[in-house]
Amino acid sequence: AGEHDAVQEAQDRAAGRPRRRSQAWFGASGRGGMLYRSWLRTQGTGPEVFDGRPVIGIATTWSELNPCNAHLDKVAEAVKRGVWQAGGFPLVFPVVSTGETLIRPTAMLYRNMIAMSAEELIRANPLDGVVLLGGCDKTTPGLLMGAASVDLPAIMVTGGPQLNGKFRGQDVGSGTHLWKFEAEMAAGRMTEADCHVAEGCMARSAGHCMTMGTASTMASVAEALGMQLSGSASWPAVDARRYEIAQAAGQRIVTMVDEDLRPSQIMTREAFENAIRTVAAIGGSTNAIIHLLAIAGRVGVPLELEDFDRLASVVPTIVDLLPSGRFLMEDFCYAGGLPVVLRELSVAGLLNDDALTVSGQSIAKDVAAAECWNRDVIRTIAEPLQEAGSTAVLRGNLAPGGAVVKQSAASPHLLVHRGRAVVFDSPEEYHHQVDDLDLSPDDVIVVRGAGPKGYPGMPEVANVPLPTKLLKAGVTDMVRISDGRMSGTAFGTVILHVTPEAALGGPLGLVRTGDEIVLDVPGRSLSVDLPDDELERRRAEWQAPVRESESGYVWLYREFVQGADQGADLSFLRGSRGSAVPRDSH
Ligand code: FES
Ligand code: MG
Repeated sequence: AGEHDAVQEAQDRAAGRPRRRSQAWFGASGRGGMLYRSWLRTQGTGPEVFDGRPVIGIATTWSELNPCNAHLDKVAEAVKRGVWQAGGFPLVFPVVSTGETLIRPTAMLYRNMIAMSAEELIRANPLDGVVLLGGCDKTTPGLLMGAASVDLPAIMVTGGPQLNGKFRGQDVGSGTHLWKFEAEMAAGRMTEADCHVAEGCMARSAGHCMTMGTASTMASVAEALGMQLSGSASWPAVDARRYEIAQAAGQRIVTMVDEDLRPSQIMTREAFENAIRTVAAIGGSTNAIIHLLAIAGRVGVPLELEDFDRLASVVPTIVDLLPSGRFLMEDFCYAGGLPVVLRELSVAGLLNDDALTVSGQSIAKDVAAAECWNRDVIRTIAEPLQEAGSTAVLRGNLAPGGAVVKQSAASPHLLVHRGRAVVFDSPEEYHHQVDDLDLSPDDVIVVRGAGPKGYPGMPEVANVPLPTKLLKAGVTDMVRISDGRMSGTAFGTVILHVTPEAALGGPLGLVRTGDEIVLDVPGRSLSVDLPDDELERRRAEWQAPVRESESGYVWLYREFVQGADQGADLSFLRGSRGSAVPRDSH
């Protein structure tokens, strides 16, 4: 069979017929080809689908255990329609899917597993191109990482945000209002019964969180990177146009296969710069930093923590969405959505205009006709919501590898602060002990043991709720410091991603209650007021926390996970391994 296939391949090449990757399966002669074709025909397709047309995989993170993605089966139907229309052969397949809300200890522990499953399944199957269906926080970056490591033509379709939450006459934002309601309950202004009503009103439709949390941020990032069609990020999950754009993506991927347009041509350094500036302009989630570092590691684009500070330092926040502002994703969509933001950046000279997108043309051209329909929701660069510099990268003797703070979600009066450290070795310890302690609003809460290796998985626990006593007294914010992450829907003066993490013996693990912490966000520093030799003395005494699990996926993760400053990918997954057809299976 191999010899015959080689002859066939030579004839195809001579005739200028593209020899598609999928033909290594379906175009094979003899028993092998019969096996591949016959088993696929169980689904009722005729023999014509094996004629050399592009075979398009639709990698879906549909799952009822990932509620934000539970409608992706319908999105997949729209994509399939588009693929058929353009003359391709679509096949939907599942990859690992993790939702933020249900997965313990944290969905972040499995982002790399999403990436691994996507990468391996794309490569192992007879595919010429792939459509990536994500939505909830980790699914979007996980799919992009996996697709980048195969580098076959790929286009993303995110599932879209939920409709705005509506509770007792007011808009409520997913995630963000969870924290607000929690504080209301702690302060005695809301009952448990009120919360039962509110929880239904906060989740009114299919889709991902409709604040500018991590999901909406990553959908915007996918669009700014050029990996999804212009306008894709913001159409609500239940809007007819969500399905229209999914269908368009299905059509487009077929042509992308003909053009051999690959992620490595789209996700260039210029595209990452566009994505970083976009996150600043939309007031996006700090989680985007980790995910972008990880995706860049897959395509081999050099990117470092300081790039986020430097590139964002000239970009004001112009989108007025929760948690930094007032509105929600539905409002953002009706105001024109991300294309308006990208156009604003372009006009101000803050966009790499020539970056190529999945459309096959430049990003500037994609958004040239974008118009804003509501200047309350999307402002201009000249009259922004917040001045430039939404994300600051801090260093100092407490964070030699860097730490991150979202200034737009912090309290201005705490950005320069000196206070007594009150240290907790885990979020659980904090929750158990905090209300028995006497804390002052000037204290600095340190919650450690929440890094990638330590927790494991780097959960979103850094924005611990304030002590009840202080909440009741009207305190709304305190400085909190952690080696963990913060939900993109959260707010407060929270110093995140402290690297190296405590579980690795980073200085955060050496701090004790009573030490003085010195925070200077404008000066970009985070330190503990201790002489070097005292830190050295404590380091010599320090003992690594005991790991309870030494086998299974968690072992693999802990063994190979990199620091937050490098994107918390598994070290052996960095880079691209290409799309060469693997050896035959039978
Ligand atoms: Fe899935 Fe927020 S929980 S997007
Ligand atoms: Mg989240």
